[in-house]
Amino acid sequence: MVCLGNICRSPIAEGVMRAIALKNNLNWQIASAGIKDYHIGEPPHNYSQKICQKNGVDISQQRARRFVAQDLEIYDKIYAMSADVLTEIQHIAGASFNGQKVSLFLNELYPGSNRSVPDPWYGPEEGYTEVFEMIRKTCEAISVKYRSAPAGFYAPI
Ligand code: 4NP
Repeated sequence: MVCLGNICRSPIAEGVMRAIALKNNLNWQIASAGIKDYHIGEPPHNYSQKICQKNGVDISQQRARRFVAQDLEIYDKIYAMSADVLTEIQHIAGASFNGQKVSLFLNELYPGSNRSVPDPWYGPEEGYTEVFEMIRKTCEAISVKYRSAPAGFYAPI
């Protein structure tokens, strides 16, 4: 899960995706990163932590890190929270870029729409609630699409 600073959007996506995967017995390795180095080592934004906590997901131990080309070797799927982030992933990855592995996150909820998760960084707390709901629905869609568990095993958070 990749966004710009790895403190607002992608930490929510990491925490929510992990919680949904755990509930559904999916043995997935989930991580997040940012394309910029502004916040490396920092915990998620207070409002990101707060909305996750309210929904039973603890992201307080996550720390911001920068996306690196090697992530494309490690992970099967890379989700960009927004179009600008996807372009930057392409630059950072260079020769390692694999267009099949890298997708716009919201295309899993709204296929072909090429929508971006709005950046709540500059806005009020409500923005984080809106973004959380978008991310939760998309993570649920991802878990349904890629789960290997038997039908009926799926449970949302
Ligand atoms: P994020 O939000 O990409 O969702 O983590 C942002 C966090 C920090 C900044 C921009 C967006 N910033 O400019 O520092």
